[in-house]
Amino acid sequence: MKTILFFILIFNSQYMSKRIGVAVVGLGSIGKTHVKALKDLEKETEFVKLVAVVDQIKAIAEKIGSEYGTPYYTTIDEVLRNSEVDVISIATPSYLHAPQAILAIEYGKHVIVEKPMATTLAGAREMVSRAERNEVKLGVIFQERYAPDIRRLKNDILKELGRIYLIESELKWYRDMKGYYKRDEIARSWRGMWNTEGGGVMTNQGIHTIDLMIWLNGEVEEVSGFVDNLTHDGIEVEDTAVAIMRYKNGALGTISQTVSMKPTTYQYRKIRVNGSNGFVEITDGSLSTVAIEGKIEESKSSVEYKKETIAQPGNLHKELLRDFLRALSEDNDFPINGKEGMKSLEVIKAVYLSSVNRQVVKLPLDVRIVV
Ligand SMILES: NC(=O)c1ccc[n+]([C@@H]2O[C@H](COP(=O)([O-])OP(=O)(O)OC[C@H]3O[C@@H](n4cnc5c(N)ncnc54)[C@H](O)[C@@H]3O)[C@@H](O)[C@H]2O)c1
Repeated sequence: MKTILFFILIFNSQYMSKRIGVAVVGLGSIGKTHVKALKDLEKETEFVKLVAVVDQIKAIAEKIGSEYGTPYYTTIDEVLRNSEVDVISIATPSYLHAPQAILAIEYGKHVIVEKPMATTLAGAREMVSRAERNEVKLGVIFQERYAPDIRRLKNDILKELGRIYLIESELKWYRDMKGYYKRDEIARSWRGMWNTEGGGVMTNQGIHTIDLMIWLNGEVEEVSGFVDNLTHDGIEVEDTAVAIMRYKNGALGTISQTVSMKPTTYQYRKIRVNGSNGFVEITDGSLSTVAIEGKIEESKSSVEYKKETIAQPGNLHKELLRDFLRALSEDNDFPINGKEGMKSLEVIKAVYLSSVNRQVVKLPLDVRIVV
């Protein structure tokens, strides 16, 4: 009996101490952030190990692999057959998210995928249903939900605002043709086209803001909007978008987004949440004003305009990846799952549909007719 118990204990401790093996696929601007965050988590936790990095360009894979002392590959297939790999972290161009995630899921891997989770709603829905069927976790990277001030708003301040009746958002960024859309061969292969980027400012840059608008006040019932490409000759997707929406709880919302902002030293993002007791304003990732009648008044008087778009600090990615991998190791739910990731994508597709058809569009959309 004692011997059996001993073997059970040994078996359990080995099982418990097994680290979750993660492979990062796509090692461009944001893939490098994944790699660094995972390497840091490997040091900080007992449950994470970076086991492979993948990029279609061998020189890139080799460089990152040797920098982090991690085996490198040039195709996702090579890591899907590796039993050390439990999770695929997808940071490839947006049009590859759905096919790569679906393939990984079919190999029984868990998937954490960059925003937008897919370029089509049908692709996103397929990812969700395959993950459910294969009983693997699917998480989407909306790291802004981890910004400390935005957490404070969600967890502590929101309930003080009373009835939320209006959420207004503005994203005024700049993306140039030479340095962004046409920066190099890789950028030219996917940015700026409907087929590969899936959309412009809303799908790529503004989706974080829309995700926050939904996270803060719930799902959307109907939208109306216009999108257009007004200053970027040589790309197809929209560089400017305006939309209005009605939430299921009756509140109204406005969205105004562009990547045409000049001078570039004046770029900013704002979200203003108005409630029956007061309002808060987030500038970039921080609370710039909190004003609640008779309770709180905080204001950072001057807005700091940024030379560059808000730098996305890698630590937000790290905290999101930590939560996803912890949820896996403890077999808990991860809140930003596939269904959650679809919500902002659906709102954006509804704005596109509204703009094309000149109509108010009701959600949910029918994925059979809306790509
Ligand atoms: N969460 C965020 O704030 C955030 C920020 C930036 C980008 N992103 C998202 O991350 C994704 C990647 O964006 P990026 O700016 O890093 O792109 P990028 O063009 O800089 O890098 C993409 C990398 O993927 C590699 N790649 C392409 N096809 C591949 C394949 N089949 N297999 C393996 N590797 C392949 C390319 O060689 C390149 O190195 C996009 O979907 C983007 O929307 C998210």
